[in-house]
Amino acid sequence: MTTLLAHVPRVEGGNLPALLRTIADAGNRIARAVARAGIGGGGLGASGRVNIQGEACQKLDDTAQDIFAEVLSSSGLVAVMASEEVEQPTIPPDGARGAFAVSFDPLDGSSNIDTNISIGSIFSVLRRRAPAPDPQDLLRPGREQVAAGYLVYGPRTTLTYSAGKGVHTFTLDPDLDEWVLTHEDMKIPARGNTCSTNGGNSPWWFPGMLKFVEWAKTVDPASGRPYGSRYVGSLVADFHRTLLKGGIFLYPADTKDPKKPEGKLRLLYECSPIAYLAEQAGGAASTGKERILDIVPKAFHQRCPLAVGSREDVAQYDVFTNQLG
Ligand code: AHG
Ligand code: MN
Ligand code: MN
Repeated sequence: MTTLLAHVPRVEGGNLPALLRTIADAGNRIARAVARAGIGGGGLGASGRVNIQGEACQKLDDTAQDIFAEVLSSSGLVAVMASEEVEQPTIPPDGARGAFAVSFDPLDGSSNIDTNISIGSIFSVLRRRAPAPDPQDLLRPGREQVAAGYLVYGPRTTLTYSAGKGVHTFTLDPDLDEWVLTHEDMKIPARGNTCSTNGGNSPWWFPGMLKFVEWAKTVDPASGRPYGSRYVGSLVADFHRTLLKGGIFLYPADTKDPKKPEGKLRLLYECSPIAYLAEQAGGAASTGKERILDIVPKAFHQRCPLAVGSREDVAQYDVFTNQLG
């Protein structure tokens, strides 16, 4: 059986297999907390904390944050880390010996926690470049990632990652408590037949997005249209389906909230890692106007529009967005 430690390629100057194994251990602990939420009256509902995003946090957001922060800080592998849940990046006590700069979304899809719908965690890994641990080291374009991935806490607990040599999924065997390689070298179909987006935002969409969704709904059997519509509301679940079956996931810029002109999703720990995986699987990820992986982040929690999935579907979206705005 191929273990995760044996499967993850090594990189110059840092123990990447050990880092991914550490993240997998965090995911295993979070999966158990998710599975037990509600038992004995604990674990569900809001924690009362409001995060940097101005969002009311769920108890499991806090649990996942605590687990990720603990395992990464004590790993000896991390120089600096940024979390969706914390305003400023943190440097672990022994960050000086850490080879990696890590950004993570400890719990993605929080609005789905109480309804027992699949949720997950997302992570992005850069090789440390600064001579000493430095939060600015996190503000690099996604094309510089050495690894990225996500866990899904659903009917199965899975870890999907890439370290630059394709995309692979490990599934947690609950009986053996071992990660088992179940999908190797995953490829997104060049074109799909599913469009995944929150249609409730359509009153605020720009013309290019409106045109794409109208195009996707047009009857044209030769191109597999109309596309089906699937939307979970957890990025990890919507992307995992897109990775396996093709199609396109869209969270575009819109005019709904003047405080979020670039859409809802965050670049460092949602769009960038997901874009890295999409490209590693032969797909594409853009804002509609530029490649996600070329964006140079200016702030740890900056948001960006996301169109990700089958490269021909993303290309079609880009055409409409560049034509119509
Ligand atoms: P998070 O729970 O980490 O804040 O992420 C939620 C994100 C993402 O998972 C999902 O694609 C999106 O929010 C759904 O947003 P809407 O509920 O606005 O559709
Ligand atoms: Mn998220
Ligand atoms: Mn989150």
